Parts: sequence; structure tokens; C-alpha cells
Amino acid sequence: MAKKNIDWSNLSFSYMPTDKRYVSMFKDGAWDEGALVDDPNIVLNECACVFQYAQTVFEGLKAYETEDGRTVIFRPDLNAQRLADSARRLSMAPFPEDRFIDAVKQTVKANLDYVPPYGSGASLYIRPFLMGTNAVIGVQPATEYMFRILTTPVGPYFKGGVKPIYIKVSDYDRAAPHGTGHIKAGLNYAMSLYPIVKAHEEGFAENMYLDAATRTYVEETGGANFLFVTKDGKLVTPKSDSILPSITRRSLMYVAEHYLGMEVEHRPVPFEEVPEFAEIGLCGTAAVISPIGKISDHGKDICVPSGMDEIGPVLKKLRETLINIQECRIEAPEGWVHVIE
Ligand code: PLP
Ligand code: COI
Repeated sequence: MAKKNIDWSNLSFSYMPTDKRYVSMFKDGAWDEGALVDDPNIVLNECACVFQYAQTVFEGLKAYETEDGRTVIFRPDLNAQRLADSARRLSMAPFPEDRFIDAVKQTVKANLDYVPPYGSGASLYIRPFLMGTNAVIGVQPATEYMFRILTTPVGPYFKGGVKPIYIKVSDYDRAAPHGTGHIKAGLNYAMSLYPIVKAHEEGFAENMYLDAATRTYVEETGGANFLFVTKDGKLVTPKSDSILPSITRRSLMYVAEHYLGMEVEHRPVPFEEVPEFAEIGLCGTAAVISPIGKISDHGKDICVPSGMDEIGPVLKKLRETLINIQECRIEAPEGWVHVIE
């Protein structure tokens, strides 16, 4: 085994094909046994449900190399569960949860040369996804599915790594009440493309979406949950049925309470309350924790007290503790870290 010749420290968050990907097919009511394959391309019928009606859901997790040379993944059981929840909401055949972790491990193991070396700050991003593959023209779910896992080495999601970002309050909605905001469906991201392109053109790194019904509560961004820190050091995270239950956010709530002794509140967060917080950030697998320095509310800036120069002290501590757990420098709660063997 030899690591690939890649400039690990300068990787961005972009796709690079690796050697192997995992594929399993569902047909006649059953999943086949699955296999690792070489071809990064997929050939499907032009009328496949994924093309016509966007019947696709996905996950995201990362593999890290530890100081002693092991490769680990973080809480894959929660990705397995969430992918199955997402699949059920789009009337798809869920990939069996008890096979998911093994499939992820096989894929990472087959691409170990692409796992960025310890200390590079990069990781191997793992993207499991599921799609409806047979032809349908009337609006109905597919009866055949493909489950696939691709991997790609990545650096930070936002340019500048942990430099605070400037975001805007969006006039578009991400997810409707009783819609699909709580699952990881491709359709949620398709609808966010136009608003994110516009936000980028205007010089913002991300959109803050508010609740679609009243536009008075904070929801999330296109690809991460919000973290708020109060002036007296409490961690507050928005609660809503239309945001994605981030695994990073759920882990950070536990870390804040049990490792750092912080008070944690998971509750609806009125947009009005945003100027009151001492620190604001985004969290997710891709984003890890990214601090927010400024939020534009229709031309009026909300300046977060921690500023645009560096991450605030509480988010910094949370970020370091989470990364230390993920990279095995401090002990993880039981079952959080899985070693690739
Ligand atoms: N919210 C959205 C819309 C996302 O796409 C993601 C990314 O997965 C997250 C939140 C963060 O979730 P997680 O921490 O499970 O990666
Ligand atoms: C992730 O964090 O894994 C995601 O899927 C977010 C996406 C916007 C890259």
C-alpha cells in the first residue's frame, strides 16, 4: 500500500475519482450481495425514476487517518439509519441498515491510498447514495434501485478553512412544513442551487433559510445546521421538523454537555434572537464547524461579536474537541468511532 501522490494540504472540497466504488442492486424485491467495481460511470435507461422524478437520497461521512496509522469512520450507524429514513420518505427500497457499515468499510478499505495522511487537515469523504433505476413515466416510485458508495479525498468545504464567513438571509425557502427538509434527498439540494449561485454572485458564502411558513424562525443553510452560543456560554441549536437532523450537530450537543460541561438547548430559534448571540457557526460533515462573522439581513448587517477575523473561543473549543474525538486523540463515547480493519 502506498498513498497516492496528491497535494493533501491543498485539497478543496471537490470530486476526484478513486479506485473502487461499492454497488448493490435491488430487483424483484431483494438486494443482491453487492460488490466493489472499477467504473465510476453509470448507464441507466433514459426514463429511470431518478432522472424523471428525482428519486434519489444520499449520505455523507468521512474517514480519517489517526496518529498511529489506523483509518477510522465516525458514527456510520447514524448515516445508515438516516439513509433508510430518507428512502422510506421517497417510497424507495431502503438499503439494509445492517449491511451499510460493512459496505462503507469495504469501500474505504479498497481506497486506503486516498485517505489523506494524519495531520494534513484533509479527509476521505464518503458519499453513499440510492436511486430509482427502472423506467417510469407515470408518477410512481421505481421498483428497482441502485445503492452506491463513492469516495473522494477532500479539504475544507469553505475556502479559508476556519475563517469566519459572511452569509445572507435568503428570500427563498429550503423546505416546506410536512415536506422533505428532514431527509437527505437530492431534490432539497436541486432547489438550493439557484439561491446559492445568487448568494455567491453577491459575495456571500451561504444562505440562512428561515421557516417557510412564517419566516420568523431560523432553519439551516443549504448544507449545514446552525450552532449558536449565548453570551453566558450556552449552546443553542435550532429545532424544527423541516431541517436535517445533522449527525455532527447531535454529536456536538453531546460533546458540549458531557465533555465541556456546557448547558445545551435544542429549541426553536426566532430570527429576532440572532443579534443576541456571542458566537454563531455552521456544522456538518463537510463543514465540520465553520464560524459565521456576519449575516446580511436584506442589506442590514448583523455583526457577530466574535468578528470576521477568527473563530470564537467556545466554537473553537467545540471544534477541537470534536476533531480530537474523530481522530482518536481523546476517547470517544462508546460506538462512535469505527476502525477500518
Ligand atoms: N443540513 C444539511 C441540509 C446538510 O446537507 C447536511 C450535511 O450532511 C447537514 C445539515 C449536516 O449533517 P451531518 O452533520 O449529518 O453531515
Ligand atoms: C455533508 O456535509 O456531508 C453534506 O452532504 C453537505 C453537502 C452540502 C456537501
